[in-house]
Amino acid sequence: MKLPAFFEEDRQAVEQALERLLPAESTPPPSIHRAMRYSVFAGGKRVRPILCMEAARIFSAHVEPAIAAGCALEFIHTYSLIHDDLPALDNDDLRRGKPTCHKQFGEAAAILAGDALLTLAFQTLAETPLAADGRVAAIQEVSRAAGTVRGMVGGQVADLEAEGKTIQPEMLEYIHRSKTAALIRASVVTGAICGGAGEADVERLRRFGESIGWAFQVVDDILDVEESSAALGKTAGKDQAQKKATYPALFGLEKSRAFAEKLVGEAIAELAPYGERAARLRELAEFLAARRA
Ligand code: IPE
Ligand code: IPE
Ligand code: MG
Ligand code: MG
Ligand code: MG
Repeated sequence: MKLPAFFEEDRQAVEQALERLLPAESTPPPSIHRAMRYSVFAGGKRVRPILCMEAARIFSAHVEPAIAAGCALEFIHTYSLIHDDLPALDNDDLRRGKPTCHKQFGEAAAILAGDALLTLAFQTLAETPLAADGRVAAIQEVSRAAGTVRGMVGGQVADLEAEGKTIQPEMLEYIHRSKTAALIRASVVTGAICGGAGEADVERLRRFGESIGWAFQVVDDILDVEESSAALGKTAGKDQAQKKATYPALFGLEKSRAFAEKLVGEAIAELAPYGERAARLRELAEFLAARRA
C-alpha cells in the first residue's frame, strides 16, 4: 500500500540517501554488501525515516540531518526483519514480497547482514550532519530503543518466550511497546532532535511516537489475520500458526481495531499545539492506522 501522495517526495529522498550510505555491491567483501542491499532495497514502506523527517519538519525546514538519521533507523529496522525471519526466530520465507535474506543467501550471510546493518546504523548516526550534542542525544535515543531494557531486542525475546502460552494483557503490552513501539518512538524523537526541538517538544513527540508505535504493531497483528500474503509481501496467518501473543488472539479483531484507533487518537491529540505545522505528521498517523499492508 502506498503512502499518501505527498510522502512520495520524502520516500524518494530516503531512497537516494540509503543508496548513498550503503557500501556499493562491488566493495569487498561483495557478498555481505549484496545481502545488505538486497534486504534494504527489497521494498518497505520507509515509515520510520519518513516519521523522522516529518517530526523534524515541525521545527525546521532543514531536513537533511533527519534524512540521514532516518536511514540509520531504516538500517536497524531492516536488520531486525532479517533476524526476525531466521529459522531460529519466526522462520519466514517471504519478506517485502521477496524471498527472505537467509532464503536468498543462506543463514550465515543473513546473520552477518543484520549485524552489519545494525553497525552501519550507528556509524550513520555518528556522522549525521548535526552539532555534537544532537548526535549524542540521537545515538543514546536509538541505542536504548534497539536494546534489551524496554527496547526492541527485549521485546523480541519476550515475543519468542510467549509463543504457545496464555499471557496476561500486561505482558502483551510489554511485548508490543518494546519490540515495535520503541523504535518508532525513537524515529520520531530523533527527528525532533534533528529539527532542533526543545525538551518539552521532544517529550511531547515521544508520547506521540509511543502511541503510534504501539498502534502500529496492533495493526500489524490485525493485518496478519485479515490480509493475504500477496498483499502483505510476507506470510499471512503466521501468528496463529505459531501461536504468537497478539491483540487479535487475546481480545478479538473488533476490540483490537478499536484499541488501535484509540491509540492513534491519543497520538494525534499530542500534536494539537503545532496546528498546521504538524498536518503531515497527523496524516501519516492516520495512514498508519488505516493501512492494509
Ligand atoms: C514490519 O514493519 C515489522 C513490524 C515492526 C510490525 P513494517 O510494516 O514497517 O515493514 P516494511 O519496512 O514496510 O517492510
Ligand atoms: C516484528 O514483529 C517486530 C520486529 C522487531 C521485527 P513481527 O514478527 O510481527 O513482524 P512481521 O509480522 O514478521 O513483520
Ligand atoms: Mg517476530
Ligand atoms: Mg515475524
Ligand atoms: Mg507481524
